[in-house]
Amino acid sequence: MSQTSETQLLEQQLIAFRHDLHRHPELSFEEVETTKKIKAALEEKKIKILNLPLKTGVVAEVSGKEDGPVIALRSDIDALPIHEQSGVAFTSENDGVMHACGHDFHTSTLLGTAYLLKDHEDELQGTVRLIFQPGEESGHGAESVVKTGVLDDVKVIFGLHNDPTLKVGEIGSRHHALTAGVDRFEIHINAKGAHAARPYEGKDPIVILAQVINVFQSIVSRNIASTENAVVSITQVHAGNTWNVIPASAFVEGTVRTFSKDVRAYIPERFRTILNGIAETFESEIELKWFPGPPSVENDPEWTDFALDVAGKEGLTPKLLEPTSIGEDFAFYQESLIGAFVMVGSGGPYALHHPKFRADDHAIYPTSRYFESLAIEALKKLTASV
Ligand code: NI
Repeated sequence: MSQTSETQLLEQQLIAFRHDLHRHPELSFEEVETTKKIKAALEEKKIKILNLPLKTGVVAEVSGKEDGPVIALRSDIDALPIHEQSGVAFTSENDGVMHACGHDFHTSTLLGTAYLLKDHEDELQGTVRLIFQPGEESGHGAESVVKTGVLDDVKVIFGLHNDPTLKVGEIGSRHHALTAGVDRFEIHINAKGAHAARPYEGKDPIVILAQVINVFQSIVSRNIASTENAVVSITQVHAGNTWNVIPASAFVEGTVRTFSKDVRAYIPERFRTILNGIAETFESEIELKWFPGPPSVENDPEWTDFALDVAGKEGLTPKLLEPTSIGEDFAFYQESLIGAFVMVGSGGPYALHHPKFRADDHAIYPTSRYFESLAIEALKKLTASV
């Protein structure tokens, strides 16, 4: 078979694989069928699957020189609880669940890379571990992989995410913080209910709730230095259930996004100070629950430049990006490993997590090729520097 028709065949296979995943999306840590499909596709090509205590997700390995360095490539495999409205022919058949973040695209891309690397296995200067990570949307999938110890000997890790704001063929990244640290908070206001006609006999939690919302908006505008960035979003408030009763409690939920460790540590402290002040003023109890998610993706400058250089050599268009306030649990790998994360143009009109989100299939195969080259070149670089 000629090179071109082999290439076309692989491209078609990867697109078909993606469409199948897209039709049958599964939520975080429930990716049972997805995991079976990935394993079957790897086994078809006799790619080694590592035996790890993971309920879902797969780590595979392609090895050339056994005593050479080890690097890792990571994709994610889970979907979101969103009702799909994209109108694509391969729309979700699992109603209420959708690959609205393009993790189906990432999975097929990495499968393509595994296939291409397997074809050149003998030429590899070391080992490439291919991580098909579960539960990224939960914010804790990466931790489940790290805990298995499968990355303990890894020298450098690369990850990717599609980006519909970039054109197909563009590869973007940046030194240091690329995505935001993601934290979730809950605030439980315990006050005192009363007849709506006699508010002075109670401690109205709705008035307290309004203070909380207002004062929190002053944190970013009045406490964070103009050279820093942060987002405080309140996304859910609940209080009361009728028109003539003042309720006894109220609930507030939201998220904080930050890019530096200092600002990330400062905001919950500031929350506490504000809430203690409001609680005292209104003679009520306010409880803050803080749920830390992934930190900011912190790209190693040298390996980021390397990843962008390889993109250029592969005929793709490297681009330096501004930080984005979305979260990405790839950051957990970077707590103990050197790594670089890149955004891959998927050229859609709709944002990630949008019910009409689409990723362009044409970007899959070139990205597989790109990650193949990145792995080969990274192993060469590591071998040369020993
Ligand atoms: Ni995603």
